[in-house]
Amino acid sequence: MDAVKCITERRSIRSFKPDAVSEELLRSVVETASYAPSWKHSQTARYIAVTGEKKAELAKYTTIWAGNGAIIESAPVVMALCSIKSRSGYERDGSPSTVRGDYWQHFDAGIAAEAYCLAAYEKGLGTVILGLFDYDDVAKLLALPENMEVAALIPTGFYEEHPAAPKRKDVNDLLTIIS
Ligand SMILES: Cc1cc2nc3c(=O)[nH]c(=O)nc-3n(C[C@H](O)[C@H](O)[C@H](O)COP(=O)(O)O)c2cc1C
Repeated sequence: MDAVKCITERRSIRSFKPDAVSEELLRSVVETASYAPSWKHSQTARYIAVTGEKKAELAKYTTIWAGNGAIIESAPVVMALCSIKSRSGYERDGSPSTVRGDYWQHFDAGIAAEAYCLAAYEKGLGTVILGLFDYDDVAKLLALPENMEVAALIPTGFYEEHPAAPKRKDVNDLLTIIS
């Protein structure tokens, strides 16, 4: 698929077909997403595919906005995009490389999330990035070690409807050229 088409036509999908997503397909999406750039090539993004009973439990940890619970229930698989802490934006001795601390870790997770969503879309899958969920409960459910955190949940699956794109700001509002 052409890159511009993939970027402009990818939409957040909030309702999915019940069809399972094969491990082979998930692996190929993550393999493509692994080409996302990262701080000093630190590659701190990790992907945990949650299905079945664990996913049903995950749906409960959306007390911050119940709408996300329904999305998680609808999706056959929820990809928990996680980050290894204190590597991206940090020196080998653990000291921060910039004044921005763990900012670059989150930056890398954002790039990884978009790479994952675009790779999924190119392979016929819908995704939506979720930021509204109960972080501590989800980290506990995923049994994350101390050095990892959940960056976002990304329900993933085949979809029936492909919504229209929400209106974008005009380029005049987005771009400033200075010299
Ligand atoms: C960091 C981030 C957090 C988001 N959190 C949620 C969320 O909790 N629930 C939800 O339904 N959509 C969430 N979204 C999806 C946005 O609402 C969506 O990307 C936006 O409305 C634009 O629509 P589009 O992705 O179809 O272009 C999130 C997106 C991002 C990037």
